[in-house]
Amino acid sequence: MLNSILVTGATGTVSSEVVKALAGRGLAVRAGVRSIDKAAPLQAFRPNVQPVELDYTRPETVHAAFAGVNRAFLLTPFTEDQVAIGKQLVAAAQQAGVQQVVLLSGAGADAQPGTQINHWHREVEVHLEQSGLSYTVLRPSGFMQNFLTYNGVSIRQENKFYLAIGDGKVNYIDVRDIAAVAATVLTAPVASHCGQIYTLTGPAAVSSEEVAAALSEATGRPISYVAVPEEAAVEAMAQAPDWLRNGLLELYRLYKAGGANWVTSTVEDVTQRPPHSIEQFARDYRSQFAS
Ligand SMILES: NC(=O)c1ccc[n+]([C@@H]2O[C@H](COP(=O)([O-])OP(=O)(O)OC[C@H]3O[C@@H](n4cnc5c(N)ncnc54)[C@H](OP(=O)(O)O)[C@@H]3O)[C@@H](O)[C@H]2O)c1
Repeated sequence: MLNSILVTGATGTVSSEVVKALAGRGLAVRAGVRSIDKAAPLQAFRPNVQPVELDYTRPETVHAAFAGVNRAFLLTPFTEDQVAIGKQLVAAAQQAGVQQVVLLSGAGADAQPGTQINHWHREVEVHLEQSGLSYTVLRPSGFMQNFLTYNGVSIRQENKFYLAIGDGKVNYIDVRDIAAVAATVLTAPVASHCGQIYTLTGPAAVSSEEVAAALSEATGRPISYVAVPEEAAVEAMAQAPDWLRNGLLELYRLYKAGGANWVTSTVEDVTQRPPHSIEQFARDYRSQFAS
């Protein structure tokens, strides 16, 4: 499929919504999946969406996936080698002569002292900035969907979620709003958003008690927040690799200290509609929180 938009990590939380948003606009999308047997959920979007094998450990699939593409959404997985993967994807876009790249980064990527995870994002951003490609960087805050992916099991099984962030307020964003921004940028004239860095948040920073209240209201059963001390979080992550445990602890400390208690208007500025609130998120995903 020539002249299409490539979306990497298309089976993931953010990119699956980017695929949906682009397909909804009737565009030809090449959906990069680690292996074709994982592409079944994308069938619903045929014929606009064409799955393509894109395994970062197999360079031949990377080059084939980028061939003939003119715009690309690049997402690195949350792994220790995400910088190497990001640079690999930027190089593939350069080689293929891609006209526009949208890179998924993280809020505070250039903050100092910042966090290790954000330093990794910044390293990929700099690589992209120096590549000569036309680019737009999206720096989203923490995802509302983390309550499904990371906290979903305890919410479904115990009606509780555990976090070591005290009463820190967090500017969570619904990934559907990240996707809406990405789709807007990827369908506008390339020059419109070229060189922009968009920091994306939800409409309000909310406490974990407020998240619990939204989930309780949406599901009709009491769901509570358990504020755990950092030592308990360390113990719970005893089996996790150091980079992951330390990275999450840095993030929890930032949240606890109020480092995510702010918002931007960028989602609305770019898409002309307000971002989803935590209450709307909870209502829309109610069935996935069912016990
Ligand atoms: N969670 C947050 O609150 C938050 C906030 C800001 C920024 N971020 C950033 O968002 C990114 C993660 O996004 P996400 O949550 O949407 O990720 P995700 O749901 O974990 O999806 C990652 C995608 O990458 C694919 N992938 C992983 N390793 C691969 C490989 N070797 N070859 C090909 N594909 C591979 C996965 O494929 P499979 O399905 O086959 O595994 C999946 O499609 C990270 O860069 C993170 O730092 C996250």
